[in-house]
Amino acid sequence: MSSKIIALIPAAGTGTRLGDSLPKQYLDINGAPLIVHTLQALARVLRIEKIIVVLSPEDQHWRGLVANGGSAWQALSARVETINVGGKSRRDSVLNGLNAIEFKDQWIMVHDAARPCIRSELVEQFIDELENDSVGGLLALPLSDTIKLDDGNLRVAKTLSRENIWRAQTPQMFKFDLLRKALTASPNATDEAEAIEACGHQPKLVMGDSANLKVTYATDLKLAKMLLSES
Ligand code: CTP
Ligand code: MG
Repeated sequence: MSSKIIALIPAAGTGTRLGDSLPKQYLDINGAPLIVHTLQALARVLRIEKIIVVLSPEDQHWRGLVANGGSAWQALSARVETINVGGKSRRDSVLNGLNAIEFKDQWIMVHDAARPCIRSELVEQFIDELENDSVGGLLALPLSDTIKLDDGNLRVAKTLSRENIWRAQTPQMFKFDLLRKALTASPNATDEAEAIEACGHQPKLVMGDSANLKVTYATDLKLAKMLLSES
């Protein structure tokens, strides 16, 4: 069975931890804005029918991206739509996005604009693993570092077991109705899966990739530049 999937891209953040005056999704990576790399990787996946980017209502930069985007933007423009309904938190941006579009039984694939190193092949595998699943799921990675609990005073209180612990990434994919209901009921969820869990479901963990990093700090931007120059 092949599914048609809608990708929803939260891109309404300000990038405070990165500390540049330009929101990080617009920072340059090897000649194109960071978000263009993200969108290009998703646009290569033909089972994604449409890519909807959630921008801030105050966004000042998307227009320039379109105007100066040249052939890279031309190739994307047929697949990408924007809606300026971003909110205070990532959860608000995703939920506002869902409330602005109308689908019923469709898979919604949420992917952070700030993860430009996602590989199309990994997205294809992710869809293969989930499209017949009854819940949906997320890319995630088993922890590789040893985990310490602090005592509140920069001293180790304890080493924790990392067995069965995963780091959540995006994409995360769930059916429209369930996802909207779950996020509506979970104002503090930091990802989609957390909201789905709170409804009593168990999202499937699909093996992610350490290269699929979220650009959060300046060092992540350097790493993303290196990773994308290789591919
Ligand atoms: N995001 C969003 N709306 C918000 C906050 C975040 O759409 N109110 C988006 C970001 O644009 C990003 C993704 O959610 O693509 C992941 O969020 P994060 O890495 O936290 O980005 P920022 O919130 O921009 O960064 P920071 O937390 O450092 O300010
Ligand atoms: Mg944030």
